[in-house]
This record gives sequence, C-alpha cells and structure tokens, in this order.
Amino acid sequence: MSVLVTGSAGFIGMHTANALLDRNEEVIGIDSINDYYDPELKRARLEKLRVNKNFYFEKLDFAAPGSLNLLIQKYPEIDRIIHLGAQAGVRYSIDNPHQYMQSNLCGQLAILEFCKSKMSDTRPIKNFVYASSSSVYGSNKKIPFSINDNTDQPVSFYGATKKAGEVMAHSYAHLYQIPTVGLRFFTVYGPWGRPDMSPYIFTNSILSEKPIKVFNKGEMMRDFTFINDIVSGILSALDTPPISLNGSPPHKIYNLGNNKPVSLMNYINVIERACNKKAIIDLQPMQAGDVVQTYANIEESERDLGYAPTTSIDIGIPRFVDWFIYYHS
Ligand SMILES: NC(=O)c1ccc[n+]([C@@H]2O[C@H](COP(=O)([O-])OP(=O)(O)OC[C@H]3O[C@@H](n4cnc5c(N)ncnc54)[C@H](O)[C@@H]3O)[C@@H](O)[C@H]2O)c1
Repeated sequence: MSVLVTGSAGFIGMHTANALLDRNEEVIGIDSINDYYDPELKRARLEKLRVNKNFYFEKLDFAAPGSLNLLIQKYPEIDRIIHLGAQAGVRYSIDNPHQYMQSNLCGQLAILEFCKSKMSDTRPIKNFVYASSSSVYGSNKKIPFSINDNTDQPVSFYGATKKAGEVMAHSYAHLYQIPTVGLRFFTVYGPWGRPDMSPYIFTNSILSEKPIKVFNKGEMMRDFTFINDIVSGILSALDTPPISLNGSPPHKIYNLGNNKPVSLMNYINVIERACNKKAIIDLQPMQAGDVVQTYANIEESERDLGYAPTTSIDIGIPRFVDWFIYYHS
C-alpha cells in the first residue's frame, strides 16, 4: 500500500512526503519540476526525500494526456492520493491564466480520471485528498471564513481554478463514490518555502537591505499557517476518509488555517526581529486579484480531523529565517 503525492518537489508536497516517510509509509512522488520558481530549490527538496528508501520519484506532467498510465502499471499498490501539484500564486495568474487552466483544471481532471480507473481495481482508492485555497473566498466580508460561506465570486483566476477543482472533485465523488477531501490552505509558510511568497521575498530584501513592496499600504490581515500545522492537518485528512451519508457523495471540504490573522505590519516587524535588521518599506496600492483579509474558521477541521494549529508567527517566522540563511549560505 502506498501514497501518491503530486507536487512532491513543491513546498507543501515535500514536507507532506517527508511526514509520510517518517511514519514508514511508501511514497510515490511525482512532479514536473517546472520553472515557475527556481527548479534548483525543487531539486534540493527532492534530495532530502531521496535519502529514504521508501521514496520513489517520477518526473512527469500529470496534466499531459496519458502521463499517469505509467503509474497505474508501475505502482499498482497506490491506494491513497494527496494531490498538491498545481500552478500556485495569485498574482501570476493575472498574466498567465493558461498555465492555471492546464495544471489546475486539466491536471485535476487527469488525477480524478486516475482515481476513477482505480475504483474498479483490486486496490481501489481509499482516500483522495486535494489542495484547495483560501482564495476561493474572494473578498468575503464575513469573518472568519466558513466552509458554509458562498465561494462563487473569486477575485483571481487562481481562486477560480481552485473553486472549479472543488466542484470537479465533487462530481467524481458523486459519480464514482471516491472518498474525497478538499483542503483550503491559508497562506502556508515555513522552511523550504516558496520564493514567490512574502516570507521569502521580505526576508531576502531585508537581509540584502533592499526595499520591500507593501501592498494596500500595509492595511491587510493574513491567517499565516505554519507548515508543520498544515502537514498535521493533511495527514489527519488522509486518515479520515469521508463516508457517504443519506445519498450525499463522500466529499468533505475543510479549512486549514491558523485561525489567528495578523496584520501585515506586525508580521513585517516579526521578520525584522528575526533578521535583526529594519525593513525599507515601499508602500504600494492594492494589487489586482489580492484580498484585504483572510481568516479561517476551523471548527469543522477541529471537530472531524482533530486539527489544532499551535505555531504562532513569533515561533514560525524565526524558523523560516534560520532556514533561509542556512539554505543561502
Ligand atoms: N503555499 C500556500 O500558501 C498555499 C495556499 C493555498 C493553497 N495552496 C495549494 O497547495 C498546493 C501546494 O502548494 P505549494 O505552496 O507547495 O506550491 P509549489 O509551487 O511549491 O508546489 C507545487 C508543485 O507542483 C508542481 N506542478 C505544477 N504543475 C504540475 C503538473 N502539471 N504536473 C506535475 N507537477 C506539477 C510544481 O513543479 C511544484 O513543484 C497547491 O495546490 C497550491 O495551490 C498553497
């Protein structure tokens, strides 16, 4: 029995695969190692995983037609899937929508078809866990954001593809009775984090004494969630396959956030302290596709998954900055 982790060279994928290996699971990782950000960082993450003999890796683009046939033949023991591979990033989606269409919609369909083909197998899929995003909430005014809130009005194309991914997963759970869990992540950060995200950009600029662009003049709140808390939530979701109740499909959606939003300026202060340097701040207007606030209601995740994030930014940011300095030295 083994777990397929898509996007295993990515930030959350690498940490998730690592946690699965730590509990002696066999992990099949796939990733296209695309160049959305420095592929060297992706390769370095993979090197960490490859030291474990229970980790197998295939470099492939899951959105390319037929690419997953290889997995069906080579790894028939796959019985659970954690689908984290995607084209991420809100701002990049404004200018590059086709990449999101390909990875997040064609790719989501390809993974769902893979699940479907396995349902008539001797080892059907026991649970399909996939990544969604707080971006589906758009400019939701009601806080904290609840999974029962309307998510029909995303304000970025990235958010639109993540919402579409949820709806697609719902239809496959209904049609083929695939146990399916969607996880809406809220601004995940931590060691080995993404170079396109603010913890990395701000730390890099502060340490090299370059100005940082602060959008909406700093008047933003984010529910920053530390990677270890997210990984605990992903593994709990994997271990808790939904069941079909009263004819409803076995599909559940959960928020994985920290439930403690912090202001952007407070968060910058914490990075400054961890770097032991002051930031040079360049105040900018709001950017297209961005939202003023994110704040996760995690009641259902606590109740069903035992999800309990414990890491404040005062603990998590210094751990990120320590990794950043180590990685770049
Ligand atoms: N990091 C966050 O704050 C955050 C927040 C909300 C949602 N998410 C979602 O969580 C998931 C993981 O995000 P991440 O931060 O680890 O991003 P990431 O970019 O570090 O990882 C995604 C990985 O998927 C791979 N990939 C993309 N398209 C592929 C394809 N067609 N075939 C094979 N591999 C492909 C990329 O090469 C990359 O390594 C994504 O679905 C993302 O949308 C992340």
